[in-house]
Amino acid sequence: MSTDTLALHGGKPVRPPGKPWPSWPILGPGEERALLRALRSGKWGKLDGDEVATFERRFADYVGAKHAIAVCNGTVSLRIALMAAGIQAGDEVIVPPYTFLATATAVVEANATPAFADIDRATFNLHPTEIRAAIRPRTRAIIPVHLGGMPCDMDAIMSIARKHNLIVIEDAAHAHGSEYNGRRCGSIGHIGSFSFQSTKNLTSGEGGIITTNDDELAAACRSIHNCGRRPDGAWYEHHVISGNYRLGEFAGAILNCQLDRLDEQSDRRDVNGRYLDGKLSQIPGITPQRRDPFATRNAHHLYVFRVCGIPRDRFVEAVNAEGTPLQTGYRVPLYRQPLFVNRAFGPYTGCTGNYRDVDLPSVEALCPEGVWLTHNVLLGSQQDMDDIVAAIRKVYEHRNALIATAGAAR
Ligand SMILES: Cc1ncc(COP(=O)(O)O)c(C=O)c1O
Repeated sequence: MSTDTLALHGGKPVRPPGKPWPSWPILGPGEERALLRALRSGKWGKLDGDEVATFERRFADYVGAKHAIAVCNGTVSLRIALMAAGIQAGDEVIVPPYTFLATATAVVEANATPAFADIDRATFNLHPTEIRAAIRPRTRAIIPVHLGGMPCDMDAIMSIARKHNLIVIEDAAHAHGSEYNGRRCGSIGHIGSFSFQSTKNLTSGEGGIITTNDDELAAACRSIHNCGRRPDGAWYEHHVISGNYRLGEFAGAILNCQLDRLDEQSDRRDVNGRYLDGKLSQIPGITPQRRDPFATRNAHHLYVFRVCGIPRDRFVEAVNAEGTPLQTGYRVPLYRQPLFVNRAFGPYTGCTGNYRDVDLPSVEALCPEGVWLTHNVLLGSQQDMDDIVAAIRKVYEHRNALIATAGAAR
């Protein structure tokens, strides 16, 4: 077996098969103790015990927001944020097309219309110029997504929002611990939204949280996530359309332990991310997601880059064979999902968008080129990062052999 031959073609892989990458989630005796404590307390619901309440206070402090309201996932958190902001049928909310579907479907489920604005090819994040171009008379809000943990240009976005009187809801599902000019993501817009689903950098399997500095928005979110109740009202007194979207105590117990690890893990990913940026940007055809000076910490839910000059799926296959678990990014812009093309919005007639003709050049160019590593990989050592670089360099250097066999493999 030659190291000079791609592993995909029978050569020796850069990283020996079976050498593990850091796994996820990471847990210890603290989680076991906390879960048992919650279990034995017999107080399993958010309103019964104090695990979630403690976590809400700690997470608000961590993010640098006045309020935090824990909910059952990061989709519901977006929808509640939109409802609290008073978004209604026919209102438009600007969203990026390079994101998980929830960023846009939460808008549909708030009975409003997602309006897709193009991203910056270099950062993968909403482009301020494209946001401005997407503003129409019914535009009420913007949902910037800090893609992979890379902070959006929040000064530019907040300035657009001030000018047009728009609410900014940061979708920080990838950005626990990421910082924009030293401020934590989720504390800069009017509302922040996080997910604690099992793949996320802070996880309890499922869960989410809303952060805000605005007392009125916080009170509205708290009421909507708790069946429309008010702090001074009776149990069976309900004031707004709402439901039970509360997070349970077992999740709160785990999150309190996971939060203790978040800073150290975020720093490690940030250091490894910068290291990969330096090395990978030297390989022609590889372009890491651009990091602007305002991105003072990228907690890297994902390490994102573009591959040019090699068929992307074949590249991913070859890098995987070298022992690096590279993944393809979002394959199509969100507006090309059948859900949007066919307007399969069920009862949400307030969504008036027609998406068949949406065609945004930057996201269209990026989807066939985007790839990422997941955050657990970035918890590895510098030697692990060197394996990643060596795998990618090797595949790039053998691109002609790869391209020659691409047709045969399909
Ligand atoms: C950018 C983004 N927003 C929102 C969500 C929704 O979070 P959840 O799965 O907790 O509903 C996700 C989940 O993957 C996400 O990646």
